[in-house]
Amino acid sequence: QYMNILLIGSGGREHAMAWKLSQSEKLTKLFIAPGNAGTMQLGENVALSPMDFQSIGKFCLEKQIHMLVVGPEEPLVKGIRDYFENNSDLTGIPVIGPGSKGAMLEGSKDFAKDFMNKYGIPTARHFTVTGKNYEEGKAFLETMRPPYVLKADGLAAGKGVLILDDMEQAKSELKTMLEGKFGEAGSRVVIEEFLKGIELSVFVITDGKNYLLLPEAKDYKRIGENDTGPNTGGMGSVSPVTFAGGEFMKKVEDKIIQPTIQGLISENIHYQGFIFFGLINVKGEPFVIEYNCRMGDPETESVFPRIKTDLIDILEAVPSQSLDTITLETDARFVSAVMLVSGGYPHHYEKGFEISNLDQASGCLLFHAGTKETEGKILTNGGRVIAISSYGRTMKEALENSYKNADKINFHEKYFRKDIGFDL
Ligand code: AMP
Ligand code: GLY
Repeated sequence: QYMNILLIGSGGREHAMAWKLSQSEKLTKLFIAPGNAGTMQLGENVALSPMDFQSIGKFCLEKQIHMLVVGPEEPLVKGIRDYFENNSDLTGIPVIGPGSKGAMLEGSKDFAKDFMNKYGIPTARHFTVTGKNYEEGKAFLETMRPPYVLKADGLAAGKGVLILDDMEQAKSELKTMLEGKFGEAGSRVVIEEFLKGIELSVFVITDGKNYLLLPEAKDYKRIGENDTGPNTGGMGSVSPVTFAGGEFMKKVEDKIIQPTIQGLISENIHYQGFIFFGLINVKGEPFVIEYNCRMGDPETESVFPRIKTDLIDILEAVPSQSLDTITLETDARFVSAVMLVSGGYPHHYEKGFEISNLDQASGCLLFHAGTKETEGKILTNGGRVIAISSYGRTMKEALENSYKNADKINFHEKYFRKDIGFDL
C-alpha cells in the first residue's frame, strides 16, 4: 500500500522521523505540521498548529492522508487520537499515538504511579499531595531521607521536578507548588523517594497487544558539562547504552515492559503508539522514573538511525495489530547525537541568527530542531537548534564525527556540550 502521511511536530525528533519515513518505498507524500527547515527538504511543511485538531482533521480529508503520526505529547494528552476516533469522517485514518487516557502515563504522574503500583512495576516509593492533604504530605516527607524529590503532577515541559537536600526547603517548595508555582500542573504534587543510579531511555512501539522493542539510548538533560546546571529538553544522546546488556534488558522486559503492556490491556486502555520508559539502573535493577507517551528528543536522533527496518512497515502493523509479524533489524554501530543550542538556553535566548556551513557537514546526519528558512537562508528559531548525529564503530568514534561537524556549523552564540557519553 502506498501512503500519504501527516507527521505532527517541529523538532529534531520529527526531522529524524521524517528522514526515516522518506526512505520507505511505500511513502507517496509526506506532510509535516508545522515542521522546520529540515523537514521541508523531505516533504511539505504545513502551517497547522499541533493543537488545532479541527484543521488537522480537515487537512487529512482534503489531502487523502492515510496515517497520522504524532511526535509530541501535548496533542496526545489533549486527545488528538480521541478526536479522530470520535469523528465519523476521520475514524478510518489510523493515528500513531495513544488516546488521552493512555497518554495519562505521561500527562499525570499520580496516574502513572498508581498504575505502576497496581501492576507491580518497580518505581520509587511515593505519596501524592493535594491542597486537601498537605499535612499528611509533610508527615510523609518526615519519613524520607534527603534528597527530596517533588514532582508537579501534570505536563510541565520537563521543568516540574525539584530535587532538594533540605527538609524545610522541601516543605516550603511543596507549598508553593500547590499554590501554583507550575500552574495547574502542580495542583497535585508527587513526593518521591530519591533513587541513586544511572538513567537510560527505553522505547517500544505497541499495537495494543504486541510490542516491538526499539534500540535504547542515553540522554544528557543538563545544560552544563558533567551533568550540571538546569535541565534542558536534552543536549545529546547516544545509542546503544553500554550497560544495557542482555541480562539488564531482560529484567526491563520482564519487570517493566510486559507488565506495562498487560496493565494497559487490563485497564481497557487501547494503546497504539510509542512508549518511552525513563528508567534508572540501581545496582543492576531497573526502576521507572517516568513514562512518556511518545519518542524522546534527542533520543530519536540516535535511535532511528539505528533502525534498519522500513518504518512504514512497522507503523502499518500498529492499526492492524500485527507487530508480532515484524522483526526489528538494527544497525550494530553506535550513533551519537550532539545538540547545538542557542546561547542563553534553557533561559532567555535570541533567535533569527543565520546558520552557516551547513553544506560543509560531512559524515553525519543533521536533524533540525529550532530552525526556519527565510529567503533561502536557514535561521535559528528555538533553543535547541540542530542535532548532529553520527555513526561509529565505537561510541568514541561516533562522538568524534559529531564533534568535528559541531565545530564547523556555526551561528551567533552557538553552544554545545563537549562531554556527551562521558559517564559510559
Ligand atoms: P522526570 O520529569 O520525572 O523525568 O524527572 C526529571 C529528572 O529528575 C529525571 O530525569 C531524573 O534525573 C530526576 N529524577 C526524577 N525522579 C527521581 C527519583 N525518584 N530519584 C532520582 N532522580 C529522579
Ligand atoms: N529527552 C527526554 C524527553 O524527550 O523527554
